[in-house]
Amino acid sequence: KSGKRIGIFGFGCVGQGLHDVLQENPHLNVARICVRDQEKLRTLPKHHFTYDAQELLQDDSIDLYAELISDPKEALLIVRQALRAGKTIVSANKKMISENLTELVALQEEFGGTLLYEAAVCGSIPILRTLEAYYGNEPLLEVSGILNGSSNYILTKLDAEGISYNEALAQAQALGFAEADPTLDVGGYDTLHKISLIAAHAFGAVVKPEQVLRAGIQHISRKDVALAQALGGRIRLVATAKLNQKDKLELQVLPTLVFPDSELYYVEAEFNGVQLEARYAGDQFLKGRGAGSHPTGSAVWADVSAALAGYKYSYPKFRHNEEGDLRPVPVEED
Ligand code: HSE
Repeated sequence: KSGKRIGIFGFGCVGQGLHDVLQENPHLNVARICVRDQEKLRTLPKHHFTYDAQELLQDDSIDLYAELISDPKEALLIVRQALRAGKTIVSANKKMISENLTELVALQEEFGGTLLYEAAVCGSIPILRTLEAYYGNEPLLEVSGILNGSSNYILTKLDAEGISYNEALAQAQALGFAEADPTLDVGGYDTLHKISLIAAHAFGAVVKPEQVLRAGIQHISRKDVALAQALGGRIRLVATAKLNQKDKLELQVLPTLVFPDSELYYVEAEFNGVQLEARYAGDQFLKGRGAGSHPTGSAVWADVSAALAGYKYSYPKFRHNEEGDLRPVPVEED
């Protein structure tokens, strides 16, 4: 197989998903996969792997990298080093990116590299690039939705079946939807990371976690679910980023009652759904698989292709620059 050479970090659910979907693309060639555990049984022969991140990062024959490991600290070191070398890297690590966005944007500006991370937000839904399509003409007023497949899977199972919260969580883990630490999913942190990235791309704001009102689904009982049903609704973990009456950005992640008049009512299992409200276009809605090996692998593949074609994110001009409130993403002047 000839073509562009990709170096992959991590061979978990997403790494394997990427490897699978790339098998159908003759122009993209997985050069090497860097993993930590040498003893672990893998689905590919040993010669596909390296255990030395530096060896992969310093391999000049690599055209671009995909960083798909779950540890945010290690992921940051890899992405930082690649960007400092002016390289192109795609990542699915929403925690790492959302917590370091200002630095990662600055590194790209300073060294000319590229970082894309569509797979970090809503799995297969191309939400970041969709938001970009509004820049320049359409003020977005609100972006909200269901952004975590695992907690939505659990809530759906509690709705429909007589299984317990813990059984539903175990299923979400077995299906490869949950994070290595599922507290990130059920505690609403993963949703927070995603709505923060959405806020950067929709409103040009970098948000600190403590600026977001957050509650997870750990304390939702079967009784709560039954009450929601009796009221004709469902409980969903909903994230919202919106400009309020004073034109200030408000973010929250909260278990919310949704009713059949809302698109979110029909988002089930590991699916995600994102509602956009724009001043002139009105309401729009995107729905798709938010977690899972192949859906997320396909989003990484899309980033790889876009990066190879020279695509970079632009961010909307920031509106909020109040000390201690929302810090702006650096943007280029006109
Ligand atoms: N754990 C995440 C989820 C994976 O359940 O949505 C996709 O980001």
